[in-house]
Amino acid sequence: MVIARTIQELKEARASLKGSVGFVPTMGALHQGHLSLIQRAKEENDGVVVSVFVNPTQFLEGEDLDAYPRREEADRLICERAGVDILFMPTIDQMYEKDELCIGAPAIRGYILEGEKRPGHFDGMLQIVMKLLNLTQTTRAYFGKKDAQQLALVMQMVRNYFLNVEIVPCEIVRDEKGLALSSRNAYLSSEEKERALCLSRSLKRATKMVMAGELDAQKIRSEMLEVLKEADEVEYVAIVDRAFRAIEKVEIGDTIILVAAWVGKPRLIDNIWI
Ligand code: PAJ
Repeated sequence: MVIARTIQELKEARASLKGSVGFVPTMGALHQGHLSLIQRAKEENDGVVVSVFVNPTQFLEGEDLDAYPRREEADRLICERAGVDILFMPTIDQMYEKDELCIGAPAIRGYILEGEKRPGHFDGMLQIVMKLLNLTQTTRAYFGKKDAQQLALVMQMVRNYFLNVEIVPCEIVRDEKGLALSSRNAYLSSEEKERALCLSRSLKRATKMVMAGELDAQKIRSEMLEVLKEADEVEYVAIVDRAFRAIEKVEIGDTIILVAAWVGKPRLIDNIWI
């Protein structure tokens, strides 16, 4: 495995890869969720590139940029064992200059839900993903459904800017109790970890209701809010179509139910595609 820390090193290593290449962008502290993306990229391509970069432009003032877990050595080992060909771990200076040209998230889809709670977050996310996609020049790029709105926006950027890459959505990986894996779970105490299960439980409740024929979004939301009482604060429970428009009635095959809530230190998100 080549570890590339500069743009030049990445370009050289990338030029030596033959055939199809899969790319998995991450912010590190890799867990089984990331690994599932890497494994899928490995299965579907001749070569695999992973990036680990805690991107400052997608963190807002006062967010956890400094505290965000950094585990370079462990990440390197995980990638090595998974058969990754290139691990790109650049410094901030390599990726950004001052007074940059920026890409803006779309005015509606980029500023609802996560974008409303974290205004500017998606601008920074799209900015770095654009850079990484251009640098790595891969056939496919793998994103988790865990960050559903991120995935939708990346797909829109690829569409709107005619980028030459296939975005592959990947299923959410959970622990044995149902908690969606996240690097931010590292902030949870064991008591909080138990309470954090209310996010996935609320989504399970919603799924059960839909399976029993209840399609009314309001009714589903209020049941979910009951389950979410164990969280310290619920930021949103949203029922949207695949284009992220709020809907009154669940339509099977075109609905995403999303939740964001605080449990202890971290703000957690989870969702289910129905
Ligand atoms: P990060 O949070 O490290 O996530 C990297 C990728 O792993 C994302 O596509 C995310 O959706 C996926 N992922 C995280 N947890 C997952 C889980 N439990 N199951 C399945 N996939 C999961 O998302 C980012 O980094 C950044 O915004 C990035 C795209 C790298 C841009 O900086």
